[in-house]
Amino acid sequence: MSISKAASSKVTSPKSIEERLQIERLVPATEVVTSHAGTDVIQGLTQTPKTLPTRYLYDDRGSELFEQICELPEYYLTRTETKILQQYAGEIARITGPCELVELGSGSSTKTRILLEAYQQLGYPLLYVPIDVSAGILESSARQLLADYPDLKVNALAGTYELALAQMLPSPLPCRMIGFIGSTLGNLKPQESDIFLSQITNALEVGEYFLLGIDLQKPKYILEPAYNDSQGVTAAFNLNILEHLNQRFEGNFDPTQFEHWSFYNETENQIESYLRSLRSQSVELSALNLTVNFALGETIHTEISRKFDLNTIQKQLTARGLVPLNVWTDPNQWFGLLLCQRQA
Ligand code: AVJ
Repeated sequence: MSISKAASSKVTSPKSIEERLQIERLVPATEVVTSHAGTDVIQGLTQTPKTLPTRYLYDDRGSELFEQICELPEYYLTRTETKILQQYAGEIARITGPCELVELGSGSSTKTRILLEAYQQLGYPLLYVPIDVSAGILESSARQLLADYPDLKVNALAGTYELALAQMLPSPLPCRMIGFIGSTLGNLKPQESDIFLSQITNALEVGEYFLLGIDLQKPKYILEPAYNDSQGVTAAFNLNILEHLNQRFEGNFDPTQFEHWSFYNETENQIESYLRSLRSQSVELSALNLTVNFALGETIHTEISRKFDLNTIQKQLTARGLVPLNVWTDPNQWFGLLLCQRQA
């Protein structure tokens, strides 16, 4: 009997990638679609000073460029967070036990592999729910992961964080951990960040986990080169938002007529990124029925990257019912990784 059991488990062929992959495109309720598509762009480009929603940086090309940024010598964030994860992933897995891994802004899912490895080593089932606005990178990285982890299941969600958090179904596993790593929280203004953290709290059951990676405050001479690299990859990334708008809203932005500009605002503790018009010019976004005039030197604000203080963020998390159980950093204290648990 034990022989036939062993034999039958051997002949069970591993499940195919198709069988283990699900991709769902999240769409808002229909009335919202028509009024929402592009209204944020119109709003941003018709106000003074001009702004654009940061998530438009991430079309498929933008996500690719961001991957290149992560490899830059000046961009210490990814490397530093990866080291912290490598050091503590085992501890995280032991604390949470078997759980579904949800990741907001998953991108290429490179750092997620470290967590998956840790859960696999403990013999836990592997269920990964990546969420990203870029459907292209979502699918390609999911397929890559599934090829590398034969026991992994992936339920990918293509859409914004708000939609995904609001539509999240209960986990089939005993527990869920929502990961928000890479300091993406830094892109949210304080008020947006409060709303976002409440959405996280609401998406978790009491006892479930939130894993947060944040970039910490440090001197300007380290921060500024990270957002103004010598190879111009960050500039290309920022300028790509214009190509994305051209493609999405039938626009005629000429990216060569704008330049990347970013600096560290020491009062606000944030990197601020802009595109600056190199001449007086007028741009059309036909699909939005919009003409935008730029004066020479006029800017479009595209991103903030806030830099955090560990004590302050811990208080904010606790106030939202997300109690930090562990706080890990690197030897320089450049980056922080916080494992929080949802309290009653
Ligand atoms: C992915 C949001 C963490 O703000 O550091 C990198 C994006 N922008 N270089 C950041 C980014 C310019 C990045 N995050």
